[in-house]
Amino acid sequence: MSLNGKYALITGSSRGIGRGIVLKLAEAGAKVAVHYYQNEAAAQETLAMVRERGAQGMIVQADVSKPDQVVQMIGRVHAEFGALDVFVSNARPEVPRFFQAPMDITLEQWDAAFDTQAKAFLVGAREAARVMNDGGRIFAITYATGSRTGGFQPWVGMGSAKAAMESLVRYFAVALARRGITVNAISPSWTEDSVLNTLPDAVQTLIRNWHEKGWTPMRRLSTPADVGDVVALFCAAGAKWITGQVIYADGGASLMNPEVPPEMQLG
Ligand SMILES: NC(=O)c1ccc[n+]([C@@H]2O[C@H](COP(=O)([O-])OP(=O)(O)OC[C@H]3O[C@@H](n4cnc5c(N)ncnc54)[C@H](OP(=O)(O)O)[C@@H]3O)[C@@H](O)[C@H]2O)c1
Repeated sequence: MSLNGKYALITGSSRGIGRGIVLKLAEAGAKVAVHYYQNEAAAQETLAMVRERGAQGMIVQADVSKPDQVVQMIGRVHAEFGALDVFVSNARPEVPRFFQAPMDITLEQWDAAFDTQAKAFLVGAREAARVMNDGGRIFAITYATGSRTGGFQPWVGMGSAKAAMESLVRYFAVALARRGITVNAISPSWTEDSVLNTLPDAVQTLIRNWHEKGWTPMRRLSTPADVGDVVALFCAAGAKWITGQVIYADGGASLMNPEVPPEMQLG
């Protein structure tokens, strides 16, 4: 699959899953815009990795919770590249900014989730679509488990914000269908080399063991490269007929039945 001649902007691509997406699109030949918020050194490192792969790119900074900065970011990328074919809304604030259970969550924490997810996607997808070539691709990186369950209580702000973003994906898919622009949400499971690695070691071990013992039927956590592969796949011309969907990129984790112990479900 070749993305030669395509131009892509991925928010939150200085590190984590966003970096994995940038690198896979670059490997396929796309010219990529690496976006960061505060960590310019990480963005520079990602761009160096892009160049090691023989691809080209640029760096752009913005706080995606600020609509005017999202508009400026897309304007800068479009001015530099002269075109845009792929927009991936992936950035997410640090966990303490939104992590609080429903009885205690502050409106500031709630807004941190909604402003960086639903509102950032509304403004980003709309602005990207304005300058995007027909046949383009728009993605929201979601966590659909959090948007449809209620057990992980401090996730209420982010789960609700992701649910709103997934809803926007469907509305934009219809709005942009005539131009052949597809709009999909990609939902990874817990992923290595991302926010996971900022958690205490004991928590990381608990999560890894849970998935390796079977909650993920493929018996491992996701990687940024796995998610990048899925985004690259959906950028291919052959994916042009799939739009408005939430795609689980999770090694089968979403297929498990929470009412039955994993040991009784696995082949
Ligand atoms: N990690 C997982 O297990 C997992 C699972 C399912 C879904 N997801 C989703 O995947 C996406 C990426 O997650 P991740 O864990 O890879 O993230 P991460 O490693 O924590 O990286 C976050 C990225 O977002 C940027 N960012 C933070 N606050 C921002 C703001 N206000 N404005 C603009 N950019 C901002 C950061 O930029 P700086 O480097 O400059 O700070 C960084 O590039 C998120 O949407 C998340 O919900 C993650």
